[in-house]
Amino acid sequence: MNQQDIRNLLDSCPTPLYVFEERLLKERVQYLRAHLPKETGLCFAVKANPFLGRFLQGCVDRFEICSPGEMYICEKQGIPAAQFVLSGVYKDEPSMRYAFTHGLCDGILTVESVRQFELLSSLSREYGKPIRLLPRLTSGNQFGLSEAELLDLLRRISAPGKDPLASGSFLTLAGIQFFSGTQKTSLKKHRRELSMLDDLLDRIRAELGIEIPLLEYGPGFPVAYFSGEDFDEDAYLEEFSSLLAQMRNKLPIMLELGRSITASCGSLLTRVADLKRNHSGNYAILDSGIHHLAYYGQFMAMKHPVFELWPPRESAPDDPEWNLCGSLCTINDLVVKKLPLHDLKAGDLLIFRNTGAYSMTEGISLFLSRDLPAVVCLKENGETELLRGAEPTWVLNGGADPV
Ligand SMILES: Cc1ncc(COP(=O)(O)O)c(C=O)c1O
Repeated sequence: MNQQDIRNLLDSCPTPLYVFEERLLKERVQYLRAHLPKETGLCFAVKANPFLGRFLQGCVDRFEICSPGEMYICEKQGIPAAQFVLSGVYKDEPSMRYAFTHGLCDGILTVESVRQFELLSSLSREYGKPIRLLPRLTSGNQFGLSEAELLDLLRRISAPGKDPLASGSFLTLAGIQFFSGTQKTSLKKHRRELSMLDDLLDRIRAELGIEIPLLEYGPGFPVAYFSGEDFDEDAYLEEFSSLLAQMRNKLPIMLELGRSITASCGSLLTRVADLKRNHSGNYAILDSGIHHLAYYGQFMAMKHPVFELWPPRESAPDDPEWNLCGSLCTINDLVVKKLPLHDLKAGDLLIFRNTGAYSMTEGISLFLSRDLPAVVCLKENGETELLRGAEPTWVLNGGADPV
């Protein structure tokens, strides 16, 4: 995004405004592919940025879809169902029926509980539709299956004839899934997890005689959000790749990634709406706030995210420190504390970088009934595409005409 792009965007859209850059997004996927073993697959976790699935077609191998809403979004965006991984801790029957009757089960379906297995196998039988299942191993929380349940399900999937519930359905085992958390900076944790998975694969082979065809692993690769953060990503990915190479079990690996794919292509443009000095502090009020900015690892607004001030200007050692506050009616709406800014004026623009993942969906967007920010994509061909206008939320919060 150059100076002219910023001027054009501000001429055509109100702030706050999310801008996603297609070129940066694609370069990011190329970077990840170049730094991971070449046979490793990439599955985009749609939750990180549901707007960007369609721009990732042809760049990633699969799309992990975690709710009915995400499924409808991907369907609408024309993503081939063969690339869907229908996932989620709560799979409700109506949306699963929709998937079966609209050809959306051609990819893979995760299994997070015995009840989910029973729902999916009975729908498979009812619709006469073969499905490929990806049981999820828990990492010790509400997600996925215990090891004992997982082994039992593998038995049932691989010998459906002997299982009263699975018989008559057409179930194939696609692999197993494991995800234990996001923003994982610790390679030790990866080492432990991959070694645990290696042991599990051995156990499955020894006890059940089953070769698991795929490991779908969510590595939760981290993003460096704050200035001064020391993260050598090349070295991190090199070490991670060597951990994959050291696994005894040689099987296809699919990495489920969200944050690491989309964070860096996004910016939030927000204006300084007001400036004041209360007691001994300088306060700048932004037209955005914590409902639009989700920086994982931010702590009491003390860390300084990567940002730019626009129009651009020099900084000086004696620049005053500003507390950047949002437009919500809570003292918690503090975006950044004590940020030195040169000659700050009402109307100046702040461009918060690395906001392409989770920021636009995780915020408490309905609080105070403020408008949702517009979302635009700066496309590779130089065009700007409006992906969503600045939608009012007051209609959702009691302002709609009574029917
Ligand atoms: C099952 C699963 N896979 C992948 C992801 C993506 O994680 P990240 O954005 O850290 O890459 C998530 C995030 O919650 C998830 O729940």
